[in-house]
Formats: sequence, structure tokens, C-alpha cells
Amino acid sequence: MSEFVTMEMINKIVSIIQTKTKKKPTVGMILGSGLGSLANEVKDPDIIPYSELPGWPISTIEGHVGQLVIGEYEGKIVVVMQGRTHFYEGYSMSYIGLPVRVMQKLGVENIIITNAAGAVNPAFAPGDLMLLTDHNAMLLMAGQNPLRGPNLDEFGARFPDMSKVYDRGLLDLARQVAKDNDLKIQEGVYICLSGPSYETPADLRFLHAIGVDAVGMSTVPEATVAAHGGLKVLGISGISNKANLDGSTETTHAEVLEAGKILVPKLKTIVKGVLQRI
Ligand code: HPA
Repeated sequence: MSEFVTMEMINKIVSIIQTKTKKKPTVGMILGSGLGSLANEVKDPDIIPYSELPGWPISTIEGHVGQLVIGEYEGKIVVVMQGRTHFYEGYSMSYIGLPVRVMQKLGVENIIITNAAGAVNPAFAPGDLMLLTDHNAMLLMAGQNPLRGPNLDEFGARFPDMSKVYDRGLLDLARQVAKDNDLKIQEGVYICLSGPSYETPADLRFLHAIGVDAVGMSTVPEATVAAHGGLKVLGISGISNKANLDGSTETTHAEVLEAGKILVPKLKTIVKGVLQRI
């Protein structure tokens, strides 16, 4: 397989998907750890396992099913990634961005990217949702940028602007939905680190000092690729564990998956409300 994702690879996957569904999605969704059950809400779904899509990065970890679910949700045709892949699983950043390219070629214009995240902001608690107002692209600054390699001109410019990765209009819609449903929602800056190890207390104090509110191992690559292609992005973190700035608590994957159960109903409220208003 080539080092970087090519138009040929993207077009091949798109044509395979189009033989398996007649539906034309306009909204994409990527579901993070413990949040995959949201896909069960999709009506009359066509389901395509990632293993049927050549080159598609396959998720290897618990909490990620590994299939595309295409169907109707709140009056919109959606394509949902039930399970995503992370950089730490061994895929290159270019491949982490491949699903977003495919979604765009299928007709997606808006994409909702979710993740499970650890709180860095001490005011955040497990079970909170956080709208991403921005992200810190530390991994990308360090050379792991999903846009590295030949530019795919069909999607966007070689040097894309990243001043508004998260669409202001979608953010306003999400705020409105939260307000209408009396749902408290946090806002802040997310950072994607490599993982798979969680942060040390010293890491967390560093992240706090540079203005980060929540930390995870995803979303930034996909959002960067989406912004390059001109997609409107809504980013939502489900806070699964609290800030551990003093090292007094431990973080486990089981805890992250458990928090998903509290987070999914809230996430559904936001996602449904946003879909109705798009
Ligand atoms: N750190 C990194 N990734 C995460 C965390 C965390 O504390 N919680 C869920 N994903």
C-alpha cells in the first residue's frame, strides 16, 4: 500500500460503498470510545464492515465496532463510523484521515466528530460534554500531519487555513440545542496526543499551562482533513475521567467505556437537535 492515501484509493472505496447502498449521506459522524451505540438510532441502516473497504484503517480496540452505518437519523441521511482508528494503533496519519475523504466524496457536507476525553480543566467532571471551540495540534506540529505527502488538490489547498476548524454556525446550533434542553455543556480546547499511554500528572500540568481543557487520542487528524476539504466540523468531547493534575487518581479504559453510558444520552440530545436544525 502507498505511504500516503491517493485519489485512486479514495475513489475505489467510494465506488464499493455505492454498490452496497443507494443512500446519499450529507452528514458524517465519527463515534469515539464508548459512544458507538449512538449508531443504533439510525433507521433502515445499510451496514458495511470496514474489512470490506480496501485500505480502510480497522479499529482494533474494545469499544469500537468497526463498521459504517448509513441510514436516516432525524430526517437526514447520515454515514456513521461506528468505531474509529487511532494513530497509536499503528496507522499513519494519512490513513487516519482516509474515512473523512471518503465521506466527503459520498456527499457529506457537515461532519460531527466525537471522542472520549480526559478533563484537564479542573472545572470539568466525568459525564460532561464539551464542544470543541478549537484544538491544539501538537502531534501535527511535531510532524505527524495527516496532510503530509502529495496534496490532494481536489479537496483543498496545499497550505490550508486552520483559523476556524470548528464551524461557528454548528457551534451556535449545538449551544442552542443545549439551552433548549436544559443541558449544561462545557466548551474548550481539545488536544490529541499519541497515546496509548495516558498522561502523567506532569503532562497534565503542562497541558493545563498551555491552555488545554480536554485531552484525548483522536479527532484532530480527522478534523484537520475535514477542514482541508472545506467540510463544516462540529467536535464534541465526552469527558470520561477527571483531571489528574496531582496524580491522586488512575485512568483506565474501563472507566472511559463506563462513562460512555452516561454520555450517550446527552450526546444523542445534542446530535439530534443539531441534525434537526442543519
Ligand atoms: N487521556 C487521553 N485520552 C483519553 C483520556 C485521557 O485521560 N480519557 C479518554 N481518552
